[in-house]
Amino acid sequence: MTPAPAAPGYSLVSLGAVDSTNREARARAEAGAPHATVVWAREQTAGRGRHGRSWASPPGNLYLSILLRPDCPPAAAAQTGFVAGAAMAQAIAAQGAAAVSLKWPNDILCEGRKLSGILVESASDGAGRLAWAVVGVGVNVAHHPADLPDAADLAGEGVDVDVEALRDAFLARFFALYRAWREQGFEPVRAAWLQRAHTMGQRLSVRLPDGPVAGDFAGIDATGNLLLATGEGTRRITVGDVFPLAEPATGE
Ligand code: BTN
Repeated sequence: MTPAPAAPGYSLVSLGAVDSTNREARARAEAGAPHATVVWAREQTAGRGRHGRSWASPPGNLYLSILLRPDCPPAAAAQTGFVAGAAMAQAIAAQGAAAVSLKWPNDILCEGRKLSGILVESASDGAGRLAWAVVGVGVNVAHHPADLPDAADLAGEGVDVDVEALRDAFLARFFALYRAWREQGFEPVRAAWLQRAHTMGQRLSVRLPDGPVAGDFAGIDATGNLLLATGEGTRRITVGDVFPLAEPATGE
């Protein structure tokens, strides 16, 4: 008897155009859709980014959102973004892109310019547990916004990738790392994320609600907070925008 093909472990909802795959996945979550529902669209008409920003979403790039229902405290939802970041950085590098790196919390850069962003949204069940998390991932495959000098796309970097192949390569890695997270906690995710992150000691500026702070990258802690070594000690940062600073000149 021919064995059945390995189940992918998720169910894929394929859409042509949608306002936002995150909004669609959230609506499905509220309507009771199961864990591991993946909403993928060829284009978005109202793509959403972090901090209420918009995410340009023409056809040709990758847009998907994963509905998850882990049994965990609401505060752990943000860790799913690190699962996605590490998995997508691996998937992109496996397509042949050079110099792929992660910028805290989960932007993916190529040669220092942004290729991909991740938006995690979640809700609690009212009894102290997470009801659902939606992990939205956008990757600039064929295009990036012309008005963003710090953005890049894979085609422009000379990497010819099929959107569906990248989607499937990512999802396989995502669900493998997700399983490790559920079984072993954040440590394997942290290790995978750090493998492609800023180099230790890299000088960063972080924009916080009370103003910018500069320091040296000192890793992430056991829940994903950024560790920044400053003149006043190590700061543990939960929310903020990171800007890598040029390394100070060395030598004469
Ligand atoms: C960021 O600001 O860096 C996060 C961008 C996240 C964009 C993705 S595209 C798929 C999903 N649907 C959305 O509306 N946003 C996320």
